Amino acid sequence: AKRARMVVANWKMFGNLALCRESLPLLAKAADVSVELVVCPPAPYLGEVGRLANRSGVHYGAQDVAEVTHGARTGEWSADMLAELGCRYAIVGHSERRDRHRECNQTVAVKAAMCIAAGVIPIVCVGETMEDRESGKTEVVLAEQLKAILQRMQKKAVFVLAYEPVWAIGTGLAATPEMAQDVHAFLRHQLALFVPAWGDSVTILYGGSVKADNAASLFAMPDIDGGLIGGASLNVLDLLSIYRSAM
Ligand code: G3H
Repeated sequence: AKRARMVVANWKMFGNLALCRESLPLLAKAADVSVELVVCPPAPYLGEVGRLANRSGVHYGAQDVAEVTHGARTGEWSADMLAELGCRYAIVGHSERRDRHRECNQTVAVKAAMCIAAGVIPIVCVGETMEDRESGKTEVVLAEQLKAILQRMQKKAVFVLAYEPVWAIGTGLAATPEMAQDVHAFLRHQLALFVPAWGDSVTILYGGSVKADNAASLFAMPDIDGGLIGGASLNVLDLLSIYRSAM
């Protein structure tokens, strides 16, 4: 299957203008057509990242989006605004949003739909907690998260999935390549139940403590198409090394 491969840097609420200005030129030099390189800075920096990324082959996106098209929503931004800024992607349903901002599967599904309607590709995050895993509920939880999202998706929609086990995020404890591969294969099977072609065509990223030294073994797995990188993406040399591991 010819799926898009990508490495996505999620800076979360870290970084500053200096990081934008220091990293973007280096990323631009490294970006190759074989693997997409995507930077998701805090929203206030999207304009600067867009300006620096201009025509360089580096793509960029937001870390969240509102679930409505416009309105009296202080502190939020719409998918259309992201499209206008040239964002190709928006992360939706990150576990930090699900957890700290109580986003439920329905909210995440609506956000993904908003992106698609605006021409922004959603990177939809799913993942189980340690408690889910230990009680044998990993597949049930993931299937539920997926179902809510896929039910609303048109057959022709383009979207990216990110598998991020909550217990692996920011803990230094990444899933093993085999564990991640098992889940990715399960997700493909679930995707295919909705639209047969999706099983093969949807890019699925792994996220959770991906570092320069474990990226290659994760990305070598047949159903892992790249990574969603948090902490390690703040160091441009680490990010570049992870990016090269995906080629
Ligand atoms: O979006 C990125 C993930 O939450 C992973 O974060 O690489 O710091 O574990 P991390």
